[in-house]
Amino acid sequence: MIDIRGRVAFLTGAAEGLGREIARELVAGGMRVALMDVQGDKLAALTDELRSGGADVLPIVVDLADPVATAAAVETALGHYGTPRVLIHNAAVLREVSLLDVTFENWRREVDIILGGAYVLTKSVWAHMVEARDGSIVFLSSGSALFGFVKETAYTPGKHAQEGLMKVLALEGREHNIAVNTMSTGRPIDTPMSDSHYTEEMRIGIVPPARLAPAFAFLAGVDADFATGQRFNAFQVSEAIRVTREAAG
Ligand SMILES: NC(=O)c1ccc[n+]([C@@H]2O[C@H](COP(=O)([O-])OP(=O)(O)OC[C@H]3O[C@@H](n4cnc5c(N)ncnc54)[C@H](O)[C@@H]3O)[C@@H](O)[C@H]2O)c1
Repeated sequence: MIDIRGRVAFLTGAAEGLGREIARELVAGGMRVALMDVQGDKLAALTDELRSGGADVLPIVVDLADPVATAAAVETALGHYGTPRVLIHNAAVLREVSLLDVTFENWRREVDIILGGAYVLTKSVWAHMVEARDGSIVFLSSGSALFGFVKETAYTPGKHAQEGLMKVLALEGREHNIAVNTMSTGRPIDTPMSDSHYTEEMRIGIVPPARLAPAFAFLAGVDADFATGQRFNAFQVSEAIRVTREAAG
């Protein structure tokens, strides 16, 4: 495990939901964080909150469906902070639309944010991590990476493909000491995404997103020798951390 204090994280989807809690957790762990999101106002509010607590964070407003803008956002973060210890691609959108009703443009946008974002973000930091022989990359997984769900015409294939990308990059990253893993939530989480899409049945066992955040600080500190090519469960990892901390007093 690597000490993450003073190290750099690039995080997407930071403005609200799970991403905002991950940002708070990484900052609490002493990391400097490039916060990327398409929602400028909410990103600015989070930046003010974190900076008022003394954190070193850089907000970057970017639409991750746009590969050119995404690569430029990473360049901005690299120029400001240098090579990140961890890249966490957390942003996603979920639209439930049948094949009859979806347009190619809307289908493509969802896949571009989930899978295209994972590719462009990783491609943009990869050579830097290779040179550093150090890095951890985490993509947000989901039950939709393993199973099909009604009307998830783009989200489910996007999450499945992201899992495949992780497996391939983990093989390539091993010789460069770059860990590449995915993190499922393990539980439904109470966020804007679940508010707008989940049925009562899907909300069974729902937890606040802050409950999962420790798992991301944990993965920020792993290298390929410890774990790569794995699909972690954020709820289980975070619970294990919580119990260990409680036992330690
Ligand atoms: N909510 C759940 O129960 C649940 C379950 C399984 C997996 N997940 C995954 O966890 C992650 C976080 O989910 P959440 O519930 O916090 O989602 P959310 O919708 O609450 O938040 C997503 C964040 O991503 C940002 N984002 C969306 N499109 C963007 C774009 N084009 N460019 C830049 N940023 C963009 C949003 O502005 C927002 O800040 C996602 O990858 C999601 O698929 C969530």
